[in-house]
Amino acid sequence: MSILVTGGAGYIGSHTLIALIDAGYRCVVVDDLSNGSAEAVRRIEMLTGERIPFYQIDVADPLLLSKVFYDHLITGVIHFAGLKAVGESVEKPIDYYQVNLGTTLNLVRCMAEAGVFKLVFSSSATVYGSEAPVPYVEGYGRGITSNPYGTSKAMIEQVLEDVAKSESRWQISLLRYFNPIGAHSSGVIGEDPQGVPNNLMPFMAQVAVGRRAALQVFGGDYPTPDGTCRRDYLHVMDLAEGHVAALENNHHLGCDAINLGTGSPVSVLEMIHAFESVTNVQIPFTIVDKRAGDLPEFWADASKAKQLLGWQAKRSLEEMMIDTWNWQSKNPDGYR
Ligand code: NAD
Ligand code: WQD
Repeated sequence: MSILVTGGAGYIGSHTLIALIDAGYRCVVVDDLSNGSAEAVRRIEMLTGERIPFYQIDVADPLLLSKVFYDHLITGVIHFAGLKAVGESVEKPIDYYQVNLGTTLNLVRCMAEAGVFKLVFSSSATVYGSEAPVPYVEGYGRGITSNPYGTSKAMIEQVLEDVAKSESRWQISLLRYFNPIGAHSSGVIGEDPQGVPNNLMPFMAQVAVGRRAALQVFGGDYPTPDGTCRRDYLHVMDLAEGHVAALENNHHLGCDAINLGTGSPVSVLEMIHAFESVTNVQIPFTIVDKRAGDLPEFWADASKAKQLLGWQAKRSLEEMMIDTWNWQSKNPDGYR
């Protein structure tokens, strides 16, 4: 019996493979490698001693995906595969709707045909939109999203809620991630963005390792304690373990949205200082104009995950920084 992990060669998927294997699961990965690395899966096999069947296929391909369900006895699916760059989604909305919705629709069709009804989906705090008060509580529902990436996640949540209503055996968790950072403590796998990183932590790590000259801090006069934006950063291994907890939650049927965050906001300047103090590496930075679309601050109300899944983030900001640096300094060019 295996868990199918779509997008398992990507950042969060690869870390979740380790958490699943640690919890005693067998895993099967499908990934088209459009933004992932087969090397990540190979390294996880080395680290864990487990063989991980790997299919380099498009999750939206009906014939190829149904063959995976035919080849393996799949008991649950974690669906990470998709496109995730906010800025790119504004330029290529058709790609984002096609890939993110197309993979999900094909996946749930193949699952139903194979009689598999347990699904954990990678959603995002972005579905709360720009108007929700902080901290974000699941009960607010979805807000008005400001880019095609976020809208695709909100649309998928709606699709999966409708799917769950149509057949009583579905158990679907919509996990709304806040800001995952860090790496497995081995330093063997980590975040390896292609091109210029969009996100703060990988950009900072690449500055620290000398791949980029300086960090630009987007905006210094936000209505926050130090003027820079605040986010809820959580360790990717805590996030990974949240997926195992969701998979093991047999109490609910239907479809449930659950925040995965720490519940505490951290500013950009605090992030820089935390990184510098644990690594002794200075991060040159300048404060520049605000980035379009950034919200001043948001963080999770993380109580539902604790109550429903018995999950809460346990790794500190220092561990996030230590593990990021361990990965980046051992792998300055990522998997290449
Ligand atoms: P990632 O890009 O590292 O991983 C996604 C993986 O999916 C990649 O390996 C890519 O090759 C694969 N993929 C893309 N399209 C595919 C397709 N059609 N068929 C098969 N494989 C395909 O991203 P990540 O950071 O690991 O994010 C995983 C999921 O979590 C995504 O759905 C993302 O939207 C969501 N999410 C990420 C964050 C974040 O900050 N990283 C926050 C909230 C939600
Ligand atoms: C964090 C903070 C930036 C880079 C994005 C998506 C969101 C989710 C997670 C998927 C912000 C600042 C950043 C830099 C900076 N992804 N920053 N200099 O924007 O909170 O969330 O990733 O679902 O949907 O929007 O994360 O890491 O890009 O930014 O000052 O070079 O760091 O302004 O305040 P964000 P981020």
